[in-house]
Amino acid sequence: MNLTLKIWRQKNANDKGKMVSYNVTDISEHMSFLEMLDVLNEELVAKGEEPVAFDHDCREGICGMCSLHINGEAHGPDRGITTCQLHMRMFKDGDTIHIEPFRAKAFPVIKDLIVDRSAFDRIQQAGGYISVNTSGNTQDANAIPIPKADADLSMDAATCIGCGACVASCKNASAMLFVSAKVSQYALLPQGQVEAKDRVLNMVNQMDKEGFGNCTNTGACEVECPKNISISNIARMNREYLSASMKDD
Ligand code: SF4
Ligand code: FES
Repeated sequence: MNLTLKIWRQKNANDKGKMVSYNVTDISEHMSFLEMLDVLNEELVAKGEEPVAFDHDCREGICGMCSLHINGEAHGPDRGITTCQLHMRMFKDGDTIHIEPFRAKAFPVIKDLIVDRSAFDRIQQAGGYISVNTSGNTQDANAIPIPKADADLSMDAATCIGCGACVASCKNASAMLFVSAKVSQYALLPQGQVEAKDRVLNMVNQMDKEGFGNCTNTGACEVECPKNISISNIARMNREYLSASMKDD
């Protein structure tokens, strides 16, 4: 395949940035989208030009590092996958592909296609964990029976990889799908109950501090989420938040 790529180039956080056009040739339909960008970067380096900066790590849909708005969709035109799992067979010879970073006030661009998603780390640090007694008297987790339905829902929520596609897809740049997945994975389990009140209050408080918008139930996040996280998690988080706000200390 021969393709035209229109890629967002931005030298640093202060640069204005602009779309730049590139041509790539002989792209195999079996390549992943990131391998196609590797081909472009090898050509740019050979010509002495600056390669396009983009985030990636595992390249198998696990780590949540890859991002990219491809033709206006977070993680591109396929469903239930990350950008690193997107294959070039989703495109046709002669196509023009627009590639931009995830856009949100809380995700400032660092360089080219790389955005700063450390706001998610700070939300996690505010409560996305359970405290475990490691004094030697730790209870075996398997000693606590958990209904299969709850375990399944918790596991579904835990598959969130923190990529930020939900934020990038939302017209309000809301992080509610991400935060609700992190709250839900514990809210559904007995082990998560001890710190449940502080968890939801602190995580939502941090989310608001980071400048994410609110949820207006458009559902775009669920459609673009590579892990098919359900917006029913947002309803659960809202219930948890309301209940935590009303409880006495
Ligand atoms: S909820 Fe989905 S889109 Fe949002 S961060 Fe988690 S995996 Fe990514
Ligand atoms: S590079 Fe790890 S999920 Fe894409």
